[in-house]
Amino acid sequence: MLRQITDQVKRIDVNPFPGADILSVSQFDRPRLEWLFARALEMQDMVKRDGGSDLLRHKLMVALFYEPSTRTSSSFIAAMERLGGSTVPITQGVQYSSVSKGESLPDTVRTLEQYSDVIVLRHPEIGSARIAADYCRKPIINAGDGAGEHPTQALLDLFTIQKELGRIDKLRIAMVGDLKYGRTVHSLTRLLLQYDVELAFVSPELVRLPLDLMNEVRKSGISVEETYHVADVISWADVLYVTRVQKERFSDLSQYEEIKNFYEITPEIMAQAQEQMIVMHPLPRVGEIAYSVDNDPRAAYFRQMENGMYIRMAILAAVLGKL
Ligand code: NCD
Repeated sequence: MLRQITDQVKRIDVNPFPGADILSVSQFDRPRLEWLFARALEMQDMVKRDGGSDLLRHKLMVALFYEPSTRTSSSFIAAMERLGGSTVPITQGVQYSSVSKGESLPDTVRTLEQYSDVIVLRHPEIGSARIAADYCRKPIINAGDGAGEHPTQALLDLFTIQKELGRIDKLRIAMVGDLKYGRTVHSLTRLLLQYDVELAFVSPELVRLPLDLMNEVRKSGISVEETYHVADVISWADVLYVTRVQKERFSDLSQYEEIKNFYEITPEIMAQAQEQMIVMHPLPRVGEIAYSVDNDPRAAYFRQMENGMYIRMAILAAVLGKL
């Protein structure tokens, strides 16, 4: 659907998203973020209390994943089912669908919308979610479009920061790893530009933050640093947001090999961090955070995953007009 969200209001009491596609974090200003986070907390309370509800009974979600996924697909499916809805997962079997016969993305989504109320789409090409939305009358939720955006991940990341540290303003946030291809970094950075934060970008030269995004950051007036070394930011940061090098985006695998083991967060590194600092990671990890860090109370990545389900419950209920 092409529905645009335009009205700018200070505090939102009414669902701003009925029928909307969720394609980019640019759809979320602070009032909308606050509204969504309040609904996600209600979802959390409800799940802890009752396990689920009938809010989305007889609603059907298709999860159409052209790229691998564990957390995003399963948390969307869990979110829908906890709200009493049903799901058609096309998450492992895209190669067995008519996509393998050469069916186009527009035809695939126009097929699936005949049977469903909302489509969650992950696709390897930047802009694919927008194209799908142009052809589809039902809401499309972007679950990652190549190296472009991953808006629902950024929403759950920001929600996690708010829950863990009680605020977003005045925080120092360091993003570590593959900042070029890491779509979660792109979306989270854009959301953070609405807050009074300080940012640091830590990456090997080969995978620095894309220049256009860096220019957006600079234009926003936020204080920003770039470095190659975690040591430069570890005692400064309130949030260490670690990412994996996105092997699948490299055309030259020798470049991937060169940088794949650039960072590893270990207990020794954690010893230099603030007591209140949190470590986040969208996961999967492939060596960037040692398993021996998992029992550190500052390791927030498992809690971050749990938050993903509550955020996705709120998003599904919102776009389906049930909030
Ligand atoms: C991320 C993704 O798919 O962009 N994973 C996720 O959704 N939790 C990060 C990644 O794959 O490295």
